[in-house]
Amino acid sequence: MKPLNHIVTEFKESIFSTMTKLAIDHGAINLSQGFPDFDGPKWVIDLAKNALDQGHLLGNVGKNQYAPSPGILPLREAISKNYQRFYNLDFDPSNEIVVTNGATEAIFCACMALINPGDEVIVFEPFYDSYLASLQMAGAKVVPITLLAPHFTFDINELASVINSKTKMLILNNPHNPTGKIFTPKEINTIAELAFKFDFYILSDEVYEFLTFEQSHIPTASYPGLKERTITISSTGKTFGLTGWKIGWACGPKEIIKAIHNVHQFTTFCVAHPLQVAMAEALEKMDDYLIDFKNQYRKKRDFLVSGLKEVGFNVLTPAGTYFAMAILKEGENDIEFCKKLILEKKVAVIPTSAFYIKSNEGSNMVRFCFAKNDETLKNAIENLKR
Ligand SMILES: Cc1ncc(COP(=O)(O)O)c(C=O)c1O
Repeated sequence: MKPLNHIVTEFKESIFSTMTKLAIDHGAINLSQGFPDFDGPKWVIDLAKNALDQGHLLGNVGKNQYAPSPGILPLREAISKNYQRFYNLDFDPSNEIVVTNGATEAIFCACMALINPGDEVIVFEPFYDSYLASLQMAGAKVVPITLLAPHFTFDINELASVINSKTKMLILNNPHNPTGKIFTPKEINTIAELAFKFDFYILSDEVYEFLTFEQSHIPTASYPGLKERTITISSTGKTFGLTGWKIGWACGPKEIIKAIHNVHQFTTFCVAHPLQVAMAEALEKMDDYLIDFKNQYRKKRDFLVSGLKEVGFNVLTPAGTYFAMAILKEGENDIEFCKKLILEKKVAVIPTSAFYIKSNEGSNMVRFCFAKNDETLKNAIENLKR
């Protein structure tokens, strides 16, 4: 038989699936995968139930049939209104927003839409694993720049030295998974200067935009001059604790969004219609929800961080996201450590070497997820104390 595609057959099982399987096999508390072990808000789920119950309306498209490929207009309008309200950013719902199956599909479609084989793309490591896969499928040359622990800063000279005329795009994830870092305005302005000088795009993955604890999020597109070259990607998975709904989007200049939509229409075509209806309504009512949401996660962060410190972990307090990184003792290896933690303490976390392709830094760190019930976090700390 002729060989299959040489790029995708090389992809390995994601570290999240591996750790989750191990956690289940050994009855461990799972602080590895990045999603809540509690349900999303009932009022949002009720909105979806209502949408599912609306049959085919006369003269209208039934909510259980295909949605318009770019996303239903009320959802694009709600997304647009929120960018205006929260960040004073204008995205035209008619042609500057496309709704996708989670941020993951938006990332894939953006890579396919922007990259020609051989183009170079800068990625800060550690990174969310779908960047590498999407870039490889698009034929990009991936150029990693390491964020250095404990503050996860990058070397500006190193960044400048790898940028050249082939650099097509830089991927920025802010707030950043897995480190919990929020990029400073100085860092983003440095990136902006390079983007202007070398004319590259910025894909800004902002799925944790509402999970910032001491400061408000600043979208990359709101920095002077960056809107015209930034693709802003976000989703409702983290914000509403409904990761299974996979409602995401990309916003940006209309020519770029058109190209991203061209990919979207021939991969998934559209996103689950009733869930879009529910999200369009939920996004309109976010203000009250966000106060409790942030408080709840801030408490979880503080509980986990102080618990881990008590147990003796060198844990770094994250400024955003629902992850905390801990630096291991010298000589410890992340993968061995995680396996031991599952077997001996019945707690599963993520070895961070999986998020790096250049540096060895990840092999002495592990990532904890605190998007978990208070009871789960309490039990995890108790297990670690034993
Ligand atoms: C940085 C980052 N981007 C994107 C995603 C995926 O978002 P979605 O579930 O909307 O596809 C995740 C999920 O963990 C993530 O951590």
